[in-house]
Amino acid sequence: MSEPLAGDPQHVAIIMDGNGRWAKSRGLRRTRGHAEGVESVRTITRAGARRKLGQLTLYAFSEENWKRPRHEVGLLMRLLRRFLIGERAEIMDNNIRLTAVGRLHRLPADVRRELDKTRELSADNTGMVLNLALSYGGRQEIVDALRAIARRVVAGELTPDDITEGAVTAHLYQPDMPPPDLLIRTAGEMRVSNFLLWQISYTELHVAPECWPEFREEHLDRAFAAYRQRVRKFGGLAGKTTG
Ligand code: IPE
Ligand code: IPE
Ligand code: MG
Repeated sequence: MSEPLAGDPQHVAIIMDGNGRWAKSRGLRRTRGHAEGVESVRTITRAGARRKLGQLTLYAFSEENWKRPRHEVGLLMRLLRRFLIGERAEIMDNNIRLTAVGRLHRLPADVRRELDKTRELSADNTGMVLNLALSYGGRQEIVDALRAIARRVVAGELTPDDITEGAVTAHLYQPDMPPPDLLIRTAGEMRVSNFLLWQISYTELHVAPECWPEFREEHLDRAFAAYRQRVRKFGGLAGKTTG
């Protein structure tokens, strides 16, 4: 009997990498790569919604990305703000719910304002969840969850034995977020760069050679096709739940 294949992914997460390399290879400034990358965000978001994805999580800015030169960080923040304003109508028209994970308080106030506005406006939408990871780090998320748990232990609301996997998950930035089924990284790099460390324990990985600004529907479909061929076992034996 053949082993059961994974089917279609419900939650896809993407490490959108290679903006700088895309630009450099064309003799352009890195910042041009970021501007082009926004086009890919638009395209892939639409494609995801059309494919009836439950959730698309995009790694847009890591906690470590604050270390980049000030002008690059500034440009990324301006692009983000422009995206949040410019895509608002499109998000609403497509019944998309916008959410975010990360240390959002670190974002500039004007970006934060537009983020909050789009989140609130789209909160009741029932289609795909578009989740932006902003000022996000997987280790930082776990630290933030542990701090919240420690406070509750000190307050007498939890005992050490209450700290289960479920309790840790309940204190993450988005407790209700299902773990990603598929994690795509563009631009060929074989690392996770501090993305969703807790959530990707059994996520299927796909590394695409294309840089993010050139990543299009056909490349997404290639990742989906690869995923469909995977046999997910979660440590058990394929197709068997118990016994
Ligand atoms: C991804 O592209 C965008 C962000 C990390 C914000 P990079 O800027 O990392 O591009 P490369 O990896 O230098 O090519
Ligand atoms: C990961 O890409 C972060 C984002 C895509 C937002 P980086 O370019 O920052 O990762 P490293 O430095 O190559 O690991
Ligand atoms: Mg990079």
